[in-house]
Amino acid sequence: MKQITKAVFPVAGMGSRFLPATKASPKEMMPVVDKPLIQYAVEEAVAAGITDMVFITGRNKRAIEDHFDKAYELEAELAANNKDKLLSLVQEVIPSHINCIYIRQSEPLGLGHAVLCAKPVVQDEPFAVILADDLIDGEPPIIKQMAEIFRQYQCSILGVQEVPRELTYQYGIVRSTPLTDDLEQVSAIVEKPKPADAPSTLAVVGRYILTPRIFHHLAKVQAGAGGEIQLTDGIAALMQEERMLAYRFKGTRYDCGSKLGYLKAMVALGLKHPEVCDEFAAYLNSLGQTGSRH
Ligand code: G1P
Repeated sequence: MKQITKAVFPVAGMGSRFLPATKASPKEMMPVVDKPLIQYAVEEAVAAGITDMVFITGRNKRAIEDHFDKAYELEAELAANNKDKLLSLVQEVIPSHINCIYIRQSEPLGLGHAVLCAKPVVQDEPFAVILADDLIDGEPPIIKQMAEIFRQYQCSILGVQEVPRELTYQYGIVRSTPLTDDLEQVSAIVEKPKPADAPSTLAVVGRYILTPRIFHHLAKVQAGAGGEIQLTDGIAALMQEERMLAYRFKGTRYDCGSKLGYLKAMVALGLKHPEVCDEFAAYLNSLGQTGSRH
C-alpha cells in the first residue's frame, strides 16, 4: 500500500498578472493577511503527512528558499528583545521534520515540464502537485482529503470543481462519469477548451495526486495549448493506461492568480483571523452601510 510523502510545487511562473507587484519578488510570496501563498500550500501538504517538499523554481525565486530557511539574524534579534511570540511564528514557518528540495527549471516550458523536473527526486513514487495560486480553504485540507482517497484507490486523482461554462478556457476540463457522490471516473481531459468545445464544466483546480508513470508521458508530450508542455496532456496520455479519478473536494477555492480572487481570499481569511476578525468585520459592515465606493 503506497502513501504520499512528496509534494511538488511549481513556482517558476512569472506572475505577469500581478505586475508590477511581481517585478522583483515571486507571486507565491504575496501574502494573504500575514502568510505568503506558498506557506498555505506547504501547510496543506504538511497536514496530509507529506514530508518532502519539492519546489520547482526559476529566476527571481530566492525569496521562497529564504522563507523556508532558518533566519539566524532575525531569530537572534527577536530572542534578544524577548519577542517570544514573534520568534515562534518565524520558527514555525516549517516543522523541523520537513525536507525542502529546490530544483531549478531553467526555461519556462510549461507546467508539464515543471512537474517533469521533479522526477530525479520523486523517482518511482506517487506524489502530490499543489499550485499555490489556487488557495483552497477546506477542513480537512484538500490534499489530505485526496491522500485519503488515494489510500483507498491507489490511482491518480484530480481535484475538480464546477466552473461557469464561459470560463472553461481558463482550465483543464474533464469528461467523466460519477462513481460516488464526490468521485468521478475520468475518460478525457482537455486543456483550456473554448466554452463550446468543453466536454463538461468540471475543472481541475490546482490539486493533483499522480502516479510516477506520469513522468514517462510528460517526457514525450509535445508543446500544446499556449505553446507549452502541458501537464493536462501528460494526464490525458496517462489515463489511457491507468485509472484516473476526479474528486469534487470540499472547500472554498480562491483563484489567487487573479486580482479579484486574491481580494476575495484576503477578505475571507481576514474575517477568520483571530487578531483582526472582529474589527475587520465591523469595518466591512460600515462599508456596506455607506454603499460601495469608487
Ligand atoms: C493550470 C493548468 C490547468 C488548471 C489550472 C488550475 O493552468 O494548466 O489545467 O485547470 O492550472 O488553476 P494555469 O492557471 O497555470 O494557466
